[in-house]
Amino acid sequence: EFKQIVTVDGPSGSGKGSLCQLLAKELGWHLLDSGALYRIVGLAAQQQGVSFDDETALAQLAANLQVEFKPGAPGEPAAVLLEGKDISQQVRAETTGALASKVAVYNGVRDALLALQRSFAKAPGLVADGRDMGTVVFPHAPTKIYLTASAEERANRRYKQLKAAGQSVNLAALLEDIQARDDRDMNRAVAPLKPAVDAVVIDSSVMGINDVYNQVMIEINKSL
Ligand code: C5P
Repeated sequence: EFKQIVTVDGPSGSGKGSLCQLLAKELGWHLLDSGALYRIVGLAAQQQGVSFDDETALAQLAANLQVEFKPGAPGEPAAVLLEGKDISQQVRAETTGALASKVAVYNGVRDALLALQRSFAKAPGLVADGRDMGTVVFPHAPTKIYLTASAEERANRRYKQLKAAGQSVNLAALLEDIQARDDRDMNRAVAPLKPAVDAVVIDSSVMGINDVYNQVMIEINKSL
């Protein structure tokens, strides 16, 4: 069993993305951004006019993804290439997250992405970012983190990010979106978002990223 895996699960806006980028950089490990895979399936379905009700067609799409991650500069997210084309901007868009959580409810889609996700587990190690990394995809990972924060705090962070990026945003609408997405992710029948029984739960509402990072490194070092 491959021991160099840390899984980080949690709701959107909990700071998972930044934490995982930092961990991967400092450890020199691979990074799996599993949310990007669901986002790509959502985007591809929209582009190809595949119905979001058609599980079979969506699973087919997921099974045939020609996707590649190109590591970014230190501290930068990886670029996402779909059939060789850089679609990083579209993948990260707010609207794409909603498409992702619609295709993510299907077992067929999730199964189709399993082997691809597991193929990221290779030397020297893997930081896996998602919703079901510790519960479903890497159940034997020696270090499992569940990173959370209150919905209000997550909406606030997102608000500041978007504002800084020059976008016009509405805090109340953002909070509503976050709550709707939490509800879909936590209450779906297949692989719902929840901490693995052996996960360390960290609430980042009241902690800076450096404190979270330090706590996670302590956990990783215990199991290496
Ligand atoms: O993490 P990110 O915001 O990119 O994920 C987008 C959506 O993809 C989530 O809201 C969730 O519905 C889905 N997802 C999932 N399982 C994962 C990662 C993401 O169901 N491992």
